[in-house]
Amino acid sequence: MPETATEKLQRIFKTLSDPTRMRILRLLKSEELMVQELMEVLGMAQSRVSRHLSILREAGLLADRRDGTYVFYRFVHQEDEPWQTGWKLVESQLRQDTTAQRDDALLGQVIEKRSFQTRNFFEAIGPEWDALRKVFNDEALRARAISRLVPQSLKVADVGTGTGILALELARLGLEVLGIDRSPRMLEAARNNIREETFPAPGSIQLELGEAYQMPVSDQVMDAAFAHMVLHYVQSPEDVVKDMARIVKPGGHIVIVEFTEHSNDWMTQELGVIWKGFNLEDVRGWFELAGLSNFRHEQSVALGSDRKLPAAFIASAQVPLSGSSASR
Ligand SMILES: C[S@@+](CC[C@H](N)C(=O)[O-])C[C@H]1O[C@@H](n2cnc3c(N)ncnc32)[C@H](O)[C@@H]1O
Repeated sequence: MPETATEKLQRIFKTLSDPTRMRILRLLKSEELMVQELMEVLGMAQSRVSRHLSILREAGLLADRRDGTYVFYRFVHQEDEPWQTGWKLVESQLRQDTTAQRDDALLGQVIEKRSFQTRNFFEAIGPEWDALRKVFNDEALRARAISRLVPQSLKVADVGTGTGILALELARLGLEVLGIDRSPRMLEAARNNIREETFPAPGSIQLELGEAYQMPVSDQVMDAAFAHMVLHYVQSPEDVVKDMARIVKPGGHIVIVEFTEHSNDWMTQELGVIWKGFNLEDVRGWFELAGLSNFRHEQSVALGSDRKLPAAFIASAQVPLSGSSASR
């Protein structure tokens, strides 16, 4: 049999008439709280607080949310008119109530304690945070944030793109990337890596099968060309630098990332490298031969952790703005 109006009113009055329940509802209206926190504000034992919570839940006035081992409760407004009128009456009458004012003060302390616990959490966890934060999987998000500083719609070539690692990073920054590689299998792997990503415009990646010595790209169309860990796999690195210089516009940049000279035979045997790193003066010479200016370089410490790896360097230069040099 459906509930009569009198029965409904009786249920509403009964639920709202208890002073503890009124206090709980007021608190949960202003803040999502756990049982422990309600106990601290109300100064009551868990059994008593839980009993009232279950009555309020049954009346449809509570919702809960689980966060790990914690359960948070919050107030839920009932839509129908008698409930709304009943609650309005309680709320307005309690406004001047001294217990309610004391509850509010204690609630402030509980919330303050929460932020103290959050601080303590990080004090305790320190460097372990890096392992925990992996759940965020937020590499792409960070790159998008940094993209605010990067001029948009830049066109860049990733020469010897391989599995597209650098191409992905560049596209996340909002760049239009052309990834070039001579290996169809590497390009297939890059395609698979890229498939999962969506780049807000203008970020994009286009992949092309091609030789780094003679790229399928017109002259002076790119803002920059990168070759990341590629030159030690080519017979004639200076010719690749020359073709990179050809496709970049005046004022644009050529950037290479390579190993410094080393004697690690295992890299030839296991990684198939042709050159055991490069001498910076040789690299400077290739850039000059390609007619580039503003040579810059920086060197890292030795890379890798398990195997002995040489230091790496980044070398860059620009296509001159005024005219072209004889060698270009
Ligand atoms: C070590 S992987 C580097 C890939 C990527 N740049 C990275 O850092 O992960 C070298 C890549 O250069 C490509 N490569 C080597 N010689 C090339 C050439 N002459 N023309 C185009 N691609 C070449 C290989 O197919 C391979 O994908």
